[in-house]
Amino acid sequence: MAFERFMEISLYDPDGFFGGEVLRSEKAGDFLTSPEVSPLFGETLARYVEGIKQAIGDPFNIVEVAAGSGSLLRSLLAALPVDAIAVEASPAARTALAAIVPVREHLPETIRGVVIANELLDNLPTALAQRTPQGWRERWVGVDDDDLVFVDAPARPEVIAWLDDYAGPVPVGGWVEVQLAARAWVIDVLHRLEMGAVLLIDYGDTAENLLPRRSDGTLRTYRSHHLGPHPLDEPGETDITSDVNFTALMDLHPGATLSRQDDFLTDLGLRERLSEIRRQELEMARSGDESQRLRLRATKTEAETLLHPRGLGDFRVLVFEKLGTDATTGASYLS
Ligand SMILES: C[S@@+](CC[C@H](N)C(=O)[O-])C[C@H]1O[C@@H](n2cnc3c(N)ncnc32)[C@H](O)[C@@H]1O
Repeated sequence: MAFERFMEISLYDPDGFFGGEVLRSEKAGDFLTSPEVSPLFGETLARYVEGIKQAIGDPFNIVEVAAGSGSLLRSLLAALPVDAIAVEASPAARTALAAIVPVREHLPETIRGVVIANELLDNLPTALAQRTPQGWRERWVGVDDDDLVFVDAPARPEVIAWLDDYAGPVPVGGWVEVQLAARAWVIDVLHRLEMGAVLLIDYGDTAENLLPRRSDGTLRTYRSHHLGPHPLDEPGETDITSDVNFTALMDLHPGATLSRQDDFLTDLGLRERLSEIRRQELEMARSGDESQRLRLRATKTEAETLLHPRGLGDFRVLVFEKLGTDATTGASYLS
């Protein structure tokens, strides 16, 4: 079968990694995401959402897609109490989210407000291709004895078209995750967005910056906060993921902007907040209030983690805005 089908089954079937009753995205789970690191993430993003709300007025909704445990919504809504819904593919996550906001399995027909998705795109099924001396070939999944193995297959026309447009000059032997589903998902959400913005946060980079990693590709698995086994081993037991090629998404709407998470959060005031926390921590040290000092120190570490230039700060933030009266122009009132 094509690799994207294997990935879809492994992650989203009832026996899949996200398909069962185990909630994966929480501190005790399999990966630690920005909203799980700190409520400062949602609190800081609330400032961006507030700007969009001021620009477009009511009706206004936050739609968080891939909302996981609900940590982001909880902190965001505490800072900015507005109508919100969550969209989740995972039944366990939907159960957790139902305590916070109305939950759906699929995107609403139309959206007026802000769509947020943190670490969704990297989990959408990808096709897999390798450049050979004869041109692009796909890597499908086959069986050898009892083992799942990669098998050679001709590249489908839509896969070749994506590679030609977005992979860049990948050397012979290079592996590329062909993110057709991510592109289709963004096209769909932009179509549903009447007015407002779409905020997509994930690991990845432009096609050009991903080129040095193409010799092995970026496909990998995670389990229990660590890199897991080969993607074909233990299907359903690991989180299969790859770095998002943002070049393949940026052309979908005029004025799309791509920035780093550390810069994006800095522009929204997180560094000022960090300075304030450091100042308060010193004050508590002087006053001898040890428990307050330790609490502030933990919060300071959380903020530093969100901004770490080689960690979460190195994530990318892709923003699409539709704010004008002509919702198709992409002209921003905020910039
Ligand atoms: C890595 S987790 C991120 C969870 C959360 N956003 C966070 O940052 O902690 C990815 C989530 O995306 C969800 N997901 C995957 N495809 C989806 C889709 N098409 N619609 C909604 N949720 C989806 C999965 O069920 C999973 O909960």
